Amino acid sequence: MSKKIFSGVQPTGNLHLGNYIGAIKNFVSLQNDPDNYCIYCVVDLHAITLKQNAKDLKKNIRETAAAFIASGLDYKKSIIFNQSLVSAHSEGSWILGCIARMGWLNRMTQFKEKAGKDKEKASIGLYIYPILMAADILLYDATHVPVGEDQKQHLELTRDIAEKFNLDFNSPDFFVTPEPLIQKNFSRIMSLKDGTKKMSKSDPSEFSRINLNDSSDQILNKIKKAKTDAEPLPDNENGLSNRPEAANLLGIYSSLSDQNLSNTINEFSGKNFSEFKKKLASLIVDRISPISFEINKLLNDQLFIDKVLKDGAEKADAIASKKIENLKKIVGF
Ligand code: TYM
Repeated sequence: MSKKIFSGVQPTGNLHLGNYIGAIKNFVSLQNDPDNYCIYCVVDLHAITLKQNAKDLKKNIRETAAAFIASGLDYKKSIIFNQSLVSAHSEGSWILGCIARMGWLNRMTQFKEKAGKDKEKASIGLYIYPILMAADILLYDATHVPVGEDQKQHLELTRDIAEKFNLDFNSPDFFVTPEPLIQKNFSRIMSLKDGTKKMSKSDPSEFSRINLNDSSDQILNKIKKAKTDAEPLPDNENGLSNRPEAANLLGIYSSLSDQNLSNTINEFSGKNFSEFKKKLASLIVDRISPISFEINKLLNDQLFIDKVLKDGAEKADAIASKKIENLKKIVGF
């Protein structure tokens, strides 16, 4: 069955191995299935829900687009664009905000995490951000949305908004209810310092994550220092329970070597971490260094990146503005 794929990544600084394994790597394989129609967005409107420096934001938009291309996304096969170039996202978000309920948003765990203790000081944008995400997806009639585990709740909210709109306006087929595509075993890459915490760009410790632009030396050093436990590696998946660091490192190895977890476990069963870490570090260097090299090369040609984004935005706008036109008619404007 052909799928219409939509996904997005925030341009908020260094992309890391979690973004790559949880999302971008999967974007590339979905793109390479000729049955799929793929749209990938640099979600800059989402980025400003937390304070950004304008110069850095511009740089990060280009860097995220460069990371997409360097990882294997092809602007001739997929639509690649940045969100703020297509006004339908903001417009759709307003209308959907009148459908979503406060009670639904109050349940969003990511808002609670990001707002921290002092919710009163969080921006309204941060609170309503999942509505913008719903607009992103619903404007393109996306059937499937590849994301990491942390976005699952936002996808459920998107489905709720779509269903409520269709029901309230007696338009049963207007919005498509999208399915999340969340990869088993690789949808939540954890911090290298604490296997119970998600790998994240907001972690103050650089040693918690591998960035896509880390040098080989930085990668080797970070893997060397990654937290482990005292046991040798297990001989089956059950042996990973209560061993979050081992599970995480074996998961990273499996994803980057394109094999399932049980094959990786067989490969390293009974071995100690120091041996495994050497193989893991060299695999990460093999996979990440070419991407990092390509990102830097692309960043030297800003005109090219800007053109990819602008051309992509024109194609995206043609789809999204038509949907907005119909949405407005249904609402009664
Ligand atoms: P963002 O920018 O935080 O992350 C981009 C993608 O990377 C995944 N990810 C991870 N996957 C596995 N392990 C990790 N440690 C990890 N950290 C991040 C995220 O799940 C995500 O898939 N709201 C979204 C962006 C967005 C979007 C959309 C996504 C906006 N509109 C529409 C899909 C469809 C976000 O902030 O992702």
